[in-house]
Amino acid sequence: MKFFQVGPVIHGCETFKEFVEEFEVDSNDLVLSNHYIYEPLLKDVDPKCHVIYQEEFGSGEPTDVMVAEIMKEVDKIDYNRMIAIGGGAVMDIAKILVLKRTESIDDLYADPKNVVKEKPLIAVPTTAGTGSEITNVAVMNRTKMNLKMGIQTQDMFADYAVLIPQMLDTVPYKLYANTTVDALIHAVEAFISKNWTPFTEMFAIHAIKLILKGYINVRDNGPDARFETNMDSMLASTYAGLAFCTSGCGTVHACSFAFGGKYHVPHGEACYQFFIETLRYFQKHDPEGRIKKLDALLCKFLDAESDGIGALETLLDQVAPLEKMSEYGAKEKDIAAFAKATYDNQQRLLKNNAYPIYEEGLAEIFKARL
Ligand SMILES: [Fe+2]
Repeated sequence: MKFFQVGPVIHGCETFKEFVEEFEVDSNDLVLSNHYIYEPLLKDVDPKCHVIYQEEFGSGEPTDVMVAEIMKEVDKIDYNRMIAIGGGAVMDIAKILVLKRTESIDDLYADPKNVVKEKPLIAVPTTAGTGSEITNVAVMNRTKMNLKMGIQTQDMFADYAVLIPQMLDTVPYKLYANTTVDALIHAVEAFISKNWTPFTEMFAIHAIKLILKGYINVRDNGPDARFETNMDSMLASTYAGLAFCTSGCGTVHACSFAFGGKYHVPHGEACYQFFIETLRYFQKHDPEGRIKKLDALLCKFLDAESDGIGALETLLDQVAPLEKMSEYGAKEKDIAAFAKATYDNQQRLLKNNAYPIYEEGLAEIFKARL
């Protein structure tokens, strides 16, 4: 049994300037980022490296078409090292850009042997959510299938993950909520995964603790209190990434892709939609499983006598109220289609469930969220 895996070497820097100096960033490097993230950083230090901005190739979460367009631009540039500075989308795209070229993006999905890394990658997260800096998976929307799918192999690891708390200084509140809830879900899904190990459990517990502490601080002291815990948020997201990189995520993430893909809902927000409902599903069908231990853990962290999941739901509702799927345009007929698409296409995630879930169970979760 695999106990634990860490791909990248993990660094921490207080500021972007410190990172540029530590990694000797210069004109041999190619940065992939967003205008609103990268340009403000340049006022302190400009490493004069090549830069490509993701949004110039389309908005929103990555698609295979967007990645192919960026690839054409990247291939015109002579560089030694890629530096991804951004959220999950930027880091996921960069993981694909540093691979050996194939006929098409579809070939990367067709056979893991086609996934071969050619250039070193440094991942600098600017949100505390995806954990992509530490994981070996990249997710994009496959436009022909209208479905988000992940590529996961050893070659998808970045070489370095660099945590810079300064990056969170400009994150708007909604993005903070949507990304940290994603990290929380990573930790929780890793904790209840059938592949949990003593190592993943340790990282998952600590991630859950730090994120909930941050939420309680925000609930009690207002949204700006989030900045007090920037480094904790960064660490929690990376801890959660380390946990799910070995244990895997499960049903919550599996359900998020059909809904998020069809209604263009950002990843964390789409996962949040199914979070509590999934936990309730396992509590109902497998009450003596890992969910029992999770509930006890939540009771401890949230100072609740019983129903830790209920206490979590209340806290989440206070820091980030949740809307139903129908508010995004989802219809009754989506339920069966989402359940089928999830069951057919997300076995990569569903196989990690400690208690098996089939189309019927998935439909139950989707229906409750309509
Ligand atoms: Fe996620």
